[in-house]
Amino acid sequence: MNKSLLTAILMLMGINVWAQRSIINLKKWEFSRDRQYWETVNVPHDWAIAGPFDKKWDLQVVRIEQNGEQEATEKSGRSGALPWIGEGHYRTTFNIDKEQFSQLGRCIIEFDGAMSEPTVYVNGHKAGYWPYGYNAFRLDISELVKQGRNDVTVDLVNLEESSRWYPGAGIYRPVKVMMLPSVSLDAWATSIRTAGFSKGVNNYGKTKLQAKVDYETQLRAPSDADSSQFDDLAFVVEVMNAEGKYEAGSHYDVPADGHIKTTITVTNPQVWTPETPYLYKMRARLFSKGKIVDELITNFGIRTIEVGKDGFKLNGTARKIQGVCLHHDLGPLGAAINKAALIRQVKLMKDMGCDAIRTAHNMPSQMQMDVCDSLGMMVMAESFDSWIYPKCKNGYSRFFKEWAEKDLTNLLVGHRNHPCIVMWSIGNEIPEQTDPVVGVEWSKKLQDLCHKLDPTRPVTQGLDRVDAAIKSKVAATMDVVGLNYRTHRYQYAYDKCPQKFVLGTETGSTVSSRGVYKIPYKTCNYGVYKDGQCSSYDNEWCNWSNLPDVDFENMQDLPWTIGQFVWTGIDYLGEPTPYDEYWPSRSSYFGICDLAGLPKDRYYLYRSVWNKEKHTLHVAPHWTWGKEMIGRTIPVQVYTDYEEAELFVNGKSQGRKQKNHFINCDESGNQITGQNQTNPNGDRWDAKYDTSNPPNLDRFRLRWFTKYEPGEIKVVAYDKDGEPAEERIIRTADYESQLKLEPDVKTLKADGEDLCYITVSMTDKDGNFCPDSDDEILVTIEGEGRFRAICNGDATSTELFIEPHMRLFHGQLVVTIQSTEKPGDIKVTVIRPSGNYRDSKGKRFTQQLIENSITIKSVK
Ligand code: GAL
Repeated sequence: MNKSLLTAILMLMGINVWAQRSIINLKKWEFSRDRQYWETVNVPHDWAIAGPFDKKWDLQVVRIEQNGEQEATEKSGRSGALPWIGEGHYRTTFNIDKEQFSQLGRCIIEFDGAMSEPTVYVNGHKAGYWPYGYNAFRLDISELVKQGRNDVTVDLVNLEESSRWYPGAGIYRPVKVMMLPSVSLDAWATSIRTAGFSKGVNNYGKTKLQAKVDYETQLRAPSDADSSQFDDLAFVVEVMNAEGKYEAGSHYDVPADGHIKTTITVTNPQVWTPETPYLYKMRARLFSKGKIVDELITNFGIRTIEVGKDGFKLNGTARKIQGVCLHHDLGPLGAAINKAALIRQVKLMKDMGCDAIRTAHNMPSQMQMDVCDSLGMMVMAESFDSWIYPKCKNGYSRFFKEWAEKDLTNLLVGHRNHPCIVMWSIGNEIPEQTDPVVGVEWSKKLQDLCHKLDPTRPVTQGLDRVDAAIKSKVAATMDVVGLNYRTHRYQYAYDKCPQKFVLGTETGSTVSSRGVYKIPYKTCNYGVYKDGQCSSYDNEWCNWSNLPDVDFENMQDLPWTIGQFVWTGIDYLGEPTPYDEYWPSRSSYFGICDLAGLPKDRYYLYRSVWNKEKHTLHVAPHWTWGKEMIGRTIPVQVYTDYEEAELFVNGKSQGRKQKNHFINCDESGNQITGQNQTNPNGDRWDAKYDTSNPPNLDRFRLRWFTKYEPGEIKVVAYDKDGEPAEERIIRTADYESQLKLEPDVKTLKADGEDLCYITVSMTDKDGNFCPDSDDEILVTIEGEGRFRAICNGDATSTELFIEPHMRLFHGQLVVTIQSTEKPGDIKVTVIRPSGNYRDSKGKRFTQQLIENSITIKSVK
């Protein structure tokens, strides 16, 4: 029979036959630190997040070269001050029944990441080892498994001084066992890419848009099989749309080498963009003698990427990337990955107008990339924070030469079908960037490997030593010149590099603490205070970094910039700069949102520039100051997309202000350089380390310097015609009386994993927010949910994330509740116990208990 006809018949015959692969997710494990005492845990699991916080964990006496430090000093919270150092052991079992075993061709165990240096044993035999804790890896355990119960054990070890931030500890990403037929499809050997768009003409002469989708895969077979292993196999690949309907496809007789390459034309494609994250499914099926032997369904998106003189283009349309860097930890959940937590992060960032995430400085999880695919978030997937030259004594440099290419390969083959990924990064601030031999050699080697495994995406690395990286030619080697900070060197990089465009791979690093306003207002480099906090006026940065305003200017004024990734979208555990030497301080201040995921003021500054769909009108600070502040100058900042606004204090106008787009320009519109400018608002600008211009803070913000009197402030924003468009009122709060509860979702999935984040805010009896409340809150849960975590965003807190009580930090905290596997109601009650308190004016008094509760539904 003609083979193509046979294939078509097999396709039809196969419809009701089950594919043979079976996947087991290994979720229940036993865990031990010492192999004596074992506890049952769910994987993903992070053993260190339970605490306690202590400065002794990973206490590093180091000189941080990247921060320009000259001497080594004691850095207490550098990697989170949590107990992640040392050994951890996990064990579990899985079952292979008689039928499965009789059909088993190959058995693979896949870890999406285990921190760190996992050694895996199956039934007492070593199955393999993978040093890099951030990477996914697979081990072929076909020879080690047996029918019935199979034992898996995993040994992990984390060395001190191996990380510049909190890495987490344990099997913190999912693990699965794949039982495969002897000839099978392999997601890691499959590549689906949009080759391009064209105009086609249909039978009626109408022009239609068409996308060419290249599909390529290498079938897997037992390595010792003979050359006839792919004989009589037929292969069908089909594009299904989001409704599950067939769109296009192709069928094949499998060639002798098992390598399949085809191009499928999709007519009238729905393209993937952050705004329209349309996902297709590629269904690949393999038939043998009338039976489906394997099936693999892969989500993919139809979209193209280009970078060049005309910028970064998605589907042919230029856009400037509005991105953020994110470390992998999920705040109080630690490194243990969770889908609901990732969804919350992405939604939060999207509402700010952010369209891209850089996975700093390591491989992302599959789960995060799935979420970015489906919610519409572009990604720069990064790989390494160091190559051969170490940044930390025991960091990845120990493995780089032997493992770098294997690690990069797994990143690419594991993730290249995600439409969300638009760029690869082979490193962050790699010291070799200054080396014309080693730096160029490794940059080429790693970039070439990326091109080989994925010819569609450009490759970059974050360069912080701009002049040296240009001189060494490392910058010129890359597809994309990526600069970390050094905004004043963008022009130089543009002039000297052949690419003729520049990406801000890392920008900002402004520091702030939610709800903390430092008065007097001081626009400064490295402000440090007794309380271990930074000002939420968004006017403090670090030696190497800058304020958001400077990056906005670069993006708007320099046509050849292709976007930026702000450091960071959300605070992370570890790296508490500028309080690296202060205790207690154990998490970052760089975040646009705090560690609990609560927006700091800065969130609205970005939103006012980035979110073009919705208006932003945000006023800071609060208006509840002590008596001693009456009559003193309080700066009021408004972040808005409106060009003009007016401030009223107790009804009295403090004047209308307009954004000033020209402050750093001379009369002919040329930018003024030099350090002698005075700022019209009298900012004190500390140029100790900064070589750039003083920042223009009146181009993207509206600012008033006004006298405090209790009562209310009102801001009215005016539209283009000068008409009032929106207003905000902030009132002086009376004493604490109510707890407001705001859940991020109303319904949970009863799968034992879903999360609800409840923001708890203290208000007075009229609902006015009490901005300085730091009362202790207790949480109880009834019904089909359990307490998962609590966090108030205070970088100096050593309270535990895993106990159901915590102080409010500047009036707020976030409680995280997790569903059980049973549907039902979950009642969450928060109380502020009765006792002696102080009102906002400092007066002591006894207060009644404050209590509030909400009920969330959990459904199957
Ligand atoms: C960068 C570095 C980041 C982080 C940041 C803080 O130089 O790439 O990992 O340390 O500084 O500003």
